[in-house]
Amino acid sequence: MSAPHQGAPGAADDVTPTPSGTWTGSGGYADPIWETVDDYLAIRLLNGDDVLDDAVADSAAAGLPPIQVSPLQGKFLHLLAQLSGAREILEIGTLGGYSTIWLARAVPAGGRVVSLELLPEHAEVARANIARAGLSERVRVLVGPALGTLPTLRDLGYGPFDLVFIDADKGNNPYYLRWAIDLARSGTVVVVDNVVRHGSIADPDNGADDVRGTQEMFNLAAQIDGFDATVLQTVGVKGYDGFLIGRVR
Ligand SMILES: C[S@@+](CC[C@H](N)C(=O)[O-])C[C@H]1O[C@@H](n2cnc3c(N)ncnc32)[C@H](O)[C@@H]1O
Repeated sequence: MSAPHQGAPGAADDVTPTPSGTWTGSGGYADPIWETVDDYLAIRLLNGDDVLDDAVADSAAAGLPPIQVSPLQGKFLHLLAQLSGAREILEIGTLGGYSTIWLARAVPAGGRVVSLELLPEHAEVARANIARAGLSERVRVLVGPALGTLPTLRDLGYGPFDLVFIDADKGNNPYYLRWAIDLARSGTVVVVDNVVRHGSIADPDNGADDVRGTQEMFNLAAQIDGFDATVLQTVGVKGYDGFLIGRVR
């Protein structure tokens, strides 16, 4: 792990938020209260959902890494899709289809989600989870490196997209943002997950590929005329991170 950035626990101007928090092996500060509050909120704001629980369980049983969005974040994506009236959604990074199911449930009849996944074994698990959710009609999982699939989408009859969710290999984030805007219309919502990365995003000396790719994405976002964006920093069961939320003018 690189040196803590200014303001992080361990930095010269350290203001450690609570004595109960710890640095985790995954390279970030974690406070147990974040998970407690996530659980508290999930019990009140999410109905128990066997389909989503089974999607997570079967993904884990198949050996997929447990890196899907949290339940509250899935609902956040779902509401964002509904609030924006999205009918045609692009997702980059399917994993076991957990976020795909949240998004596909938000589109109206006749709407669809196309989700891009590098690994056939992830796509296979995702398709099974999506089928159990009764959403196969409105979801297509396309296998291969997203940078190979994205240039083919128009010819395949997809887009322009109303909402794009970027959640794959973070080193390619600038390219994914560029494609999201290429495949957008006026009003398209773009969401990028994991853009704060335990705060490492603000460390100019952090050379990790995921951090560098996300930093370059922010530089690009600042330069693109007609793209308005902000970031919501988040804490919860997934630690300290954040979502970029943008809109194509
Ligand atoms: C963080 S997971 C996606 C989680 C999912 N969006 C969810 O919340 O349920 C990232 C996924 O992107 C896939 N991926 C990595 N590199 C990729 C690439 N170049 N093209 C397409 N998918 C890629 C990984 O195999 C993995 O399944």
